[in-house]
Amino acid sequence: MSRLLVLLLVLALLPLAPVRAQSDYGVVAATVNGERHYLGLGGGDPVFTWAVTATRRGTRQRAYRIIVASSEAQVTAGVGDVWDSGRVASTSTTGIGYEGPPLEPRTRYHWAVQSWDDEGAEATSLPGWFETALDTWTATWIARDVPEVGPTSRGPDPRISQLRRAFTLPAGEIIRARLYATALGVYRAELNGRPVADDRLAPGWTDYRDRVQFQTYDVTGHLRPGANAIGVTLATGWYAGHISNIGKNTYGSGTPGFLGQLEVAYADGRLETVASDLSWRTVQGPTTGADLQDGEHFDARADTPGWTTADYDDATWEEVVEKTDLPAGAAVLVPQADQPVRVTQRLPPVSVERRGDDTHLVDFGQNLVGVAELRVTDADRGTTVSLRFGEALDASGDLDTTNLRAALATDSYTSRGDAVEEWAPAFTFHGFRYVEVTGYPGDLPPSALTALVLGTDVPLTSAFASTDERLDRLVANAEWSLRGNFLSVPTDCPQRDERMGWTGDLNVFAPTAALLADVRRFLGDKWMGDVRDEQGPDGQVGLVVPDPVGQFGPEDAPDIVWSSAAITVPYTVWQASGELQVVEESWAAMTAFMRFWEEQEPQTVIGDWAPPPADPADVAMGRGLPELDDLLARAWFVRDADLMNRMATAAGRHDEARRYIQLAQDARADFAAAHVRGGGRLEPDAQTAYAVALAFDLLPADQRRAASDRLAALVRDEGDGWDLATGFVGTPLVLAALSEHDNVEAAFRLLTQDDYPSWLHQVELGATTMWEFWNGLSADGSLHSQLDNSLNHYAFGAVARWIHTELGGIQQDPERAGYAHFTVRPRAAGGVEAASSKLATVRGTVVSSWRHGPDGFALDVTVPANATATVHIPTSGDPARILEVGESPVPATQATGVVLLGVLDGEARFEVGSGQYAFRVSA
Ligand code: BGC
Repeated sequence: MSRLLVLLLVLALLPLAPVRAQSDYGVVAATVNGERHYLGLGGGDPVFTWAVTATRRGTRQRAYRIIVASSEAQVTAGVGDVWDSGRVASTSTTGIGYEGPPLEPRTRYHWAVQSWDDEGAEATSLPGWFETALDTWTATWIARDVPEVGPTSRGPDPRISQLRRAFTLPAGEIIRARLYATALGVYRAELNGRPVADDRLAPGWTDYRDRVQFQTYDVTGHLRPGANAIGVTLATGWYAGHISNIGKNTYGSGTPGFLGQLEVAYADGRLETVASDLSWRTVQGPTTGADLQDGEHFDARADTPGWTTADYDDATWEEVVEKTDLPAGAAVLVPQADQPVRVTQRLPPVSVERRGDDTHLVDFGQNLVGVAELRVTDADRGTTVSLRFGEALDASGDLDTTNLRAALATDSYTSRGDAVEEWAPAFTFHGFRYVEVTGYPGDLPPSALTALVLGTDVPLTSAFASTDERLDRLVANAEWSLRGNFLSVPTDCPQRDERMGWTGDLNVFAPTAALLADVRRFLGDKWMGDVRDEQGPDGQVGLVVPDPVGQFGPEDAPDIVWSSAAITVPYTVWQASGELQVVEESWAAMTAFMRFWEEQEPQTVIGDWAPPPADPADVAMGRGLPELDDLLARAWFVRDADLMNRMATAAGRHDEARRYIQLAQDARADFAAAHVRGGGRLEPDAQTAYAVALAFDLLPADQRRAASDRLAALVRDEGDGWDLATGFVGTPLVLAALSEHDNVEAAFRLLTQDDYPSWLHQVELGATTMWEFWNGLSADGSLHSQLDNSLNHYAFGAVARWIHTELGGIQQDPERAGYAHFTVRPRAAGGVEAASSKLATVRGTVVSSWRHGPDGFALDVTVPANATATVHIPTSGDPARILEVGESPVPATQATGVVLLGVLDGEARFEVGSGQYAFRVSA
């Protein structure tokens, strides 16, 4: 054979090297337990999640490899000297558990994930790290010998203390320093004159009889060999200050305590420890009072700048005492599970008005939760400026604080007489839009006050915009209520003397919260830990979590509608995050909860809380209509059994799944016997009954449409027409019960109604957060005459979910958690001409953006890499008329990455892979 022939033959036999376009495949958002870098990890092995990116349509991950290493250099070199998962053929990018050898405490691990797409392109994440928390404490709980303060006292609470210790660090190269610290109370630590972090209200609220959280701070940059000092300010917080209307000193004697352990590592392997002990010194200091509800008071004349530096002379200070009266939870120290409370935004006033010789009224234009930073100029020494906070004004335009009940919500600052002085409280928070300022010297310039917005720093994940500004505001109001009430605990309200973790409020709001924010850590890690602490031995969960005095159940008032948050939250967090660990962690608790309700008739004692009174001038109702109770309780039992089945199935617990299927089936039959009356009618014949029965699939298939029609009729005929008659339980479900059963127009009529009672009635009256009651403010803008009347309660804000999922059009697929698959099906109705919903999901950004115009209908969709979506496009005829112009204008049926599934009920349904799509239907 000639050499030429051989060469040709060889060339012909050679596999063609794939000619691949340059790939932009990437790995982003690689997180450990929800954080890019996690300092102070504890409570179980780390959980890895990442997202992949690519512009090529239909990109999938085909395999991944995780490496965990002892140094970043090892990670960069691709060596997993701690754990190497090896290449795992999998499309999973969420909730991958660590499977290496046991991790050491107080140790930093570095990691990265490598990912391959379906064409073999490879990408690696940036290196991340996680550092395990302390597990062995040598520190002593210390305290100041504070005055006794009775449980019912109001006003400045003087049990504030400053604690300090100067110490000398030996010479050498400091490579790492950590402060592990906590308090029974709330605290703020400084080293050498600098705060250790920007946290507020650490260690957060848990039931201190069960568990106390501690913080881990990286203070390497704060220290140096030689003279150093640590200073801590300690206040009462939830431990010894006011909680709800039950008074102070709930968890013990009322003396706040501090525990801290500073560990300093040297390059040569030495470890120096400075722990809280009896050598520390203490004084009350300039903060003359602080309480979460009553406010904070600061006398700058007693301030001693530099008190947390080594040079400060503390000779006149007292010796600390050991805190010995510890609640049981002080022996169960756990790393803080959620993000810290922080200042998340700063807002200037929108107006300042003089209201008398000595008084100004400042309006921030936004109801919010936080404090005000004060800037005083040219005040005489000893001048006291007082700030009173409130959500509303009375009919004559003065601050109205009647809805705060007993909470004093008053701060004050006494000047030292400098030209310019600035102060912000650190150990209180208020729910407010207005601040009444008394005693400010001269005219109060707007720059004198800045609102500091406080809350647990959960990442916000959504954006909504439409041609109806009122709807945009409504969604914003729900988000503001989330931000204000997610503060260490998910509370009902942030302003009055209540601020409790009411389970029912969260039960109805959690699915919305999981769209508006990344709640994995706050609800999944932190609050579910609180639930497990508070669960009764019989499996029952109470009406509030944490439950400080056992006043709200479990034993007194079992309420399945409220306490089912114990099922809703793990389910919802799993659905949003795609991480099944949250389900596994609470599986025993959820099973025990179900057992409790299997053994007794489901019941509710609160019912459909806060339905609107027919006349807005009437006192708002709290307790829902008692005739709905049995229906609601049975409905929630079925729903819980359904969710347990889904979670069990996903977790591979097949026997348990079967049991819950049976349980749900029997409970559905019981529900039908008790409440379904044929022809789609329910007993009682009330809006909430239909909303719940349709949402939880409690009606035979052939009765659903009729039931939805009946709901539409009730809504149409209620009050003046198109009125809600629903409370906390019915309201979040009523729109979907209409729109999912061909009553889209009725749903929009109801949503866009702005007469009392309706969502937009609140907006029309200037609401900037969600109200507890439909008649929160009267038509003149003043508070409706009721003491229980919060203007910042998120339950009715659950409607923001419908707005994102139906009007925006992004619907999760419950079978494919973590947005692995979702549906895009905007409901373009109700006079809204355009809307867009954007969600930062665990797979990447999902967008649905549509507009109606004279030219037709346009829908832009973004599907993150490694996800797929079913897109519904309204069409009156041939689906081939639908164009897809994202890459080049072609009929959608021929577009890359788009497959026509079929046409049904005036909609073409397309299955699409990842990518950006632009569908157009001409008029
Ligand atoms: C709270 C509600 C709560 C209700 C139940 C109220 O005081 O503010 O949000 O769910 O009590 O009784």
